[in-house]
Amino acid sequence: MSLSEARLSADARPNDLEAYWMPFTPNRAFKKAPRLITRAKGMYYYAADGRAVLDAAAGMWCCNAGHGREEIVTAIKRQAEELDYAPAFQFGHPYAFELASRVAALAPGDLDHVFFCNSGSEAVDTALKIALAYHHARGEGARTRLIGRERGYHGVGFGGISVGGIVNNRKIAAVIVEPMAGSTGVLPAPKGYLQRLRAICDKYGILLIFDEVITGFGRLGFAFAAERYGVVPDIITFAKGITSGTVPMGGAIVRAPVYQAFMAGPEHVIELFHGYTYSAHPLACAAGLATLDLYGREKLFERARALEPKFADAAMTLRGLPGVLDIRTVGLVAGIDLASKPDGFGKRAYAAMDKAFHEHGLMIRVTGDAIALSPPLIVSEDEIGEIFGKVGKVIEAVR
Ligand SMILES: Cc1ncc(COP(=O)(O)O)c(C=O)c1O
Repeated sequence: MSLSEARLSADARPNDLEAYWMPFTPNRAFKKAPRLITRAKGMYYYAADGRAVLDAAAGMWCCNAGHGREEIVTAIKRQAEELDYAPAFQFGHPYAFELASRVAALAPGDLDHVFFCNSGSEAVDTALKIALAYHHARGEGARTRLIGRERGYHGVGFGGISVGGIVNNRKIAAVIVEPMAGSTGVLPAPKGYLQRLRAICDKYGILLIFDEVITGFGRLGFAFAAERYGVVPDIITFAKGITSGTVPMGGAIVRAPVYQAFMAGPEHVIELFHGYTYSAHPLACAAGLATLDLYGREKLFERARALEPKFADAAMTLRGLPGVLDIRTVGLVAGIDLASKPDGFGKRAYAAMDKAFHEHGLMIRVTGDAIALSPPLIVSEDEIGEIFGKVGKVIEAVR
């Protein structure tokens, strides 16, 4: 078998795992007992040995429409044939404009301009850069500080990892928060918290950024969590669900006054020195448009909202299991804190994830010693029962 045939074969098994330095993965542990996935359809992944693995994580919070959706696949294929790539700077293609309009229409209030990039981290870098440039354009260049929350996660770009603690109000350019912190353990915003933040930012002229990389596109039962919480930020970052995970894409949606602040100089001059070779890549735009069509046609955001109480009830059945400290849910997200083992923080949850995959046909995500569940929004009530049933067994097994 040639290498290319081997790559295309569904049950391809690389015989050397060494060269690939895996991201956010304990490489040595993984390579001893690999969790290899070769195929996906609907609610299921399929392991290299052919076993079905129920996806309780939407990949990594991104495959909101489930896997292998015909309409999205067809749109990507068609787009690759029609227009593989168009320069992102100084030229445009129609699908970028169409997708920007569609995303803007889903966003609340006057959030009506969209800057595209390729990931959540880039979306955060983009939003922070826009915030700094916005204040600079308005003659407030001293506002250079960017504030984030303890236990916030905004990706791995230098912007996202550099947001810090409290300083003098007059120096703050922007505050960035996740309406529900996902990657640090599922922490929904307390009641009134986002409203209060909005009021403080208004009072001191600070831009409020919601990082909706996880919460966007239906995860909390609405297009954006901003709508759920009734708070309109100045900038929303998004990624993941925009293409249901099929093609990398991210972006920042900004309010009209933010965009307008840049539109003052001579018309031939670039207003914002920022962008990526693959900003609004045609394949990502085609995938995004088909994904938004699917979300609309199948009413997946509404579906998530309707399933929320059942999902929460199912999660709470795990209360009282050995080592379970706390359970939190919001939308179709559940966080389950496990007591750490005396011999290592994160060891228990890692064992849970490994057992879930190898022994129970279930994919879960873990962070520290917390389990995070966020199934595709197509999940059925039976599958919700199955997910929590399996998670319960796994928790018993790692007691
Ligand atoms: C809230 C939030 N922001 C940003 C990111 C980074 O996204 P990416 O991994 O696509 O760069 C993540 C990733 O999970 C996230 O949860």
